[in-house]
Amino acid sequence: MTRTLSEKVHTGSAAAILDALAASPGEPVSGGELSRRLGLSRAAVWKRVALLKEAGFPIVSMRSHGYLLTGAEGVIVPSRIEALLKGKVIGGKIICLAETGSTNVDAARHAEEGAPEGTVVIADSQTAGKGRLGRRWESPPGRNLYCSVIIRPFIPPQKAPHLTFLSSLAICDAASDLLGLDLSLKWPNDVLAGGKKCAGLLNEMSAESDRIRYVILGIGVNLNMSTTDFPPDLRYPATSLSIESGRTIDRTLFAARLLDCLDRWYDRYRAQGFEPVRTAWMKRSWTVGKRVRVSHDGERGVTGVATGIDEMGALLVETSPGRIERILAGDVTISGGDA
Ligand code: BTN
Repeated sequence: MTRTLSEKVHTGSAAAILDALAASPGEPVSGGELSRRLGLSRAAVWKRVALLKEAGFPIVSMRSHGYLLTGAEGVIVPSRIEALLKGKVIGGKIICLAETGSTNVDAARHAEEGAPEGTVVIADSQTAGKGRLGRRWESPPGRNLYCSVIIRPFIPPQKAPHLTFLSSLAICDAASDLLGLDLSLKWPNDVLAGGKKCAGLLNEMSAESDRIRYVILGIGVNLNMSTTDFPPDLRYPATSLSIESGRTIDRTLFAARLLDCLDRWYDRYRAQGFEPVRTAWMKRSWTVGKRVRVSHDGERGVTGVATGIDEMGALLVETSPGRIERILAGDVTISGGDA
């Protein structure tokens, strides 16, 4: 099997070197120290550092001091995520890539090949990041979190829309725990900070008529994007958690906390069903109580007041007094200005 550059740097001794450098922020680690710790020759250390640099990791070789990883918070270190995780299922196996087309496509391939539930694919950048409704998801390197989680829930395929809410609640919990941010949720799958989109979710499923084979929970969170990093032609107001919190976010730490929070929500969902998830989502909802327009496939769709979500995760819209419509899919805009 030929390994890609990305696989080479994220496995074995290259990954261990990255780990050692990430654990020493602002301080170079000497080649001698690395070769002693990892049982490698100096030449082998040098070769692996060269591979890491080629893969885009910001490593500076400092004459007679060693190697320094600059901007360690910008680097996702898989073994650090594994060390931080407390969850039981999510993150059992983590595959970390420097660049890929789409982590959802990679995760689906791994799921087809039998990867266990909880396997996570994370990439530093995506060249064909997929958004909802065939749109593109901006995925530059060194900035954000792009990850896809394989789950194999024992629920009928009709209930799959429930699963999006687990990821969005996990993002809210992680942002609240680590940054004290109070995010809100826009049906069906947007996460907002200060009314602007900071994360999006794209679930993809493989199922038979009565059974789910697997679901890929695709999660994209804008972490360290600055205002000028966003393309000017975005169709909605966007932000990042660093813009909102005024802090640079450690991507590894955020990834680990997010996966832990997802593990907790998935566990609760399996034990208690959708009701606690629905209740928590309603508390954070940006949509409920507002006058909305829901369009689908470019159609004008329905207009009314959003009153909640039902037991299947459908949006309930009161279109005229006493008349409630159930919306299963669509794009919500708040009448009179919106995210
Ligand atoms: C949206 O709001 O339109 C959904 C965006 C989902 C983006 C994530 S990034 C990780 C995963 N891989 C993809 O190609 N898409 C999802």
